[in-house]
Amino acid sequence: MIRLDKYLADAGAGTRTQVKELIRKGCVSVDGKMIRRPEEKVNEQTVRVTVNGTEYQYRTYRYFMLNKPAGVVSATEDKREKTVLDLFPEEIRKDLFPVGRLDKDTVGLLILTNDGVLAHNLLSPKKHVSKTYLVGTGRPVSEEELRQLRSGVDIGEKKRTLPAEAWYAKEKNQIYLSIREGKFHQIKRMLAAVDNEVFYLKRITMGLLTLDENLAEGSFRELTEEEIDMLYGIEVEKEMK
Ligand code: URA
Repeated sequence: MIRLDKYLADAGAGTRTQVKELIRKGCVSVDGKMIRRPEEKVNEQTVRVTVNGTEYQYRTYRYFMLNKPAGVVSATEDKREKTVLDLFPEEIRKDLFPVGRLDKDTVGLLILTNDGVLAHNLLSPKKHVSKTYLVGTGRPVSEEELRQLRSGVDIGEKKRTLPAEAWYAKEKNQIYLSIREGKFHQIKRMLAAVDNEVFYLKRITMGLLTLDENLAEGSFRELTEEEIDMLYGIEVEKEMK
């Protein structure tokens, strides 16, 4: 059992103060009965709560997009290094973990959640979720090397890398590389396979989710409902119907 105002705040109906106001104003019904006490206890597993007629489901899952800065490791804890979780305040941090890993020196899009199913869907090698990186290279990549990166290169695994997308970015020494697998240090190893080197690496997309350009490095924000749906592939399914 939890308080009604907590239920509604967790369900995304507003801040704790806003939902208290809504409850006091008589906008909130619990199992069809108007309740004006924010401290009323409800069973979050079974209750039906509406605000002005709109139903709000209790959500225990949380989803964040972080623009990972360089110098932090993608782990929940580490004895020596600062982790991505250290960028989150204590009250938010609980149960969160990063969906996959970016190297310590890699920046950009990292999702943090407490939803194990979503993490599994995004990381499962069978799902081939695409990830796009902006890659700063030691020297300009030639057309021929771009072609090799697209068709697959030998990075010392049993099989060559899967077909990828690769195209030039604005700068001379930068390309975009979009891959559908996630081998250890894959981008760095792919560039090494064409005798080049990675100097800068930034992840821009994961599945249909794109890094918010307004997020400074080291900042995070909650994902919107639409973005969460995108990650679950709901939009893709709709398009395919
Ligand atoms: N590939 C790499 O080499 N490093 C990363 O952090 C991500 C992909």
